Amino acid sequence: MNRFLAKAAVAAAAFCLMITAPAMAAQDKLGGTLEIFSWWAGDEGPALEAMIKLYNKQHPGVSVENAAVTGGSGINARAVLKTRMLGGNPPDSFQVHAGQELIGTWVASGRMEDLTFLYKQQGWMEAFPADLIKLIGTENGIWSVPVTVHRSNVMWFVPANLKKWGIQAPADWNEFLEIAPRLQEQGVVPLALATNWTANHLWESVALASMGADRWDALWRGEIPWTDPEVVKAWELFGKVLQYTNDDATSLSWQQATDMVVDGRAAFNVMGDWAAGYMNTTLGMAPGKDFGWSASPGTGGVFMFLSDSFGLPVGAANRDNSLAWLALVGSRSGSDAFNPLKGSISPRLDTDLNLYNDYSKSAAGDWGRDRIVGSLAHGVTANEGFMSDFASVMEMYLKNRNAGQAAMACHAIAVKNGIARR
Ligand code: GAL
Repeated sequence: MNRFLAKAAVAAAAFCLMITAPAMAAQDKLGGTLEIFSWWAGDEGPALEAMIKLYNKQHPGVSVENAAVTGGSGINARAVLKTRMLGGNPPDSFQVHAGQELIGTWVASGRMEDLTFLYKQQGWMEAFPADLIKLIGTENGIWSVPVTVHRSNVMWFVPANLKKWGIQAPADWNEFLEIAPRLQEQGVVPLALATNWTANHLWESVALASMGADRWDALWRGEIPWTDPEVVKAWELFGKVLQYTNDDATSLSWQQATDMVVDGRAAFNVMGDWAAGYMNTTLGMAPGKDFGWSASPGTGGVFMFLSDSFGLPVGAANRDNSLAWLALVGSRSGSDAFNPLKGSISPRLDTDLNLYNDYSKSAAGDWGRDRIVGSLAHGVTANEGFMSDFASVMEMYLKNRNAGQAAMACHAIAVKNGIARR
């Protein structure tokens, strides 16, 4: 009898599922298309694809166009986006870094829709940390929906290789400069580097270590000039570190620099924790066993963060579809489908950490404990104007290695872009 009842219950539940699933689909009125613009293509694509799959399930009538433009840190995508936004042809929703890349660029030029109503409707004022909401908001509104929290200042390595070479991950850059020649003697590149934006990425970790978190923050508040001796010192240290990087850096993608560490041609790489996503999701490596990590030298206890978000541009052709996309991006299920594959942690306060691997669990612990500072290379501290000018300063520095000149040039672009006082 009991068995019969149990069977009947299962059959009833299955029947309910049968009628609710199509009924839900029928209730969804959305149709047409949705264009999502980002730089998460190829190796960087799996997390975005997982979230698009969820969207397809929720809104089967909408055909999603994944308009990703390849190129780490959005190096190509951001240029395409600029042309489209200025040409009055915005995508329905696009990836943008929380912070000045959003506020000082697209919000300042009046090209984003205020999403405060969506935050209220979805209960997001309580779901996201107040400090993060501040970073994507102004007194006139809230301008995007965060999907990741990434860490920029991480050093990656393969524990078995370090053992073989008789070294440990360096706690600071002095230690690195001591062990680097020993690695070179063994035919190993001490630090793998890739194309130019990864030099900006390395620079911010070196500068943070060299000048400390207080000075880093003060720079962006315009409280100290870029010609400060401590900033010059940071450029000098950066020059020393660069001596131990590979000669072919400019021709490599960030994934190829990671590959150098993975296959033992290089000992270390400083990269954001999308590298954990690449090694775990794409290469199938186990965190803690096949690859290891530590805070980039001299930055223990500081979490240099960045956050990817999606926004709704004014004039989006498929606004309703885009709002449904944003609702998914900000939801717990969307976030927890995306982040475990990406190497990032969820910005939501109610995330299910059981879904995450050991690297992400440790990052989540640091995120709750560490001093938090913003990333330059990934849009938190400076607007597009400063970032593209900084890329030119970096190009000049990579050629002439003149620390004093780089610091002066930075001061000039900081004044030009409204960051520093004259
Ligand atoms: C960052 C972005 C990350 C990752 C990385 C490498 O700017 O925030 O999500 O995509 O670039 O391309």
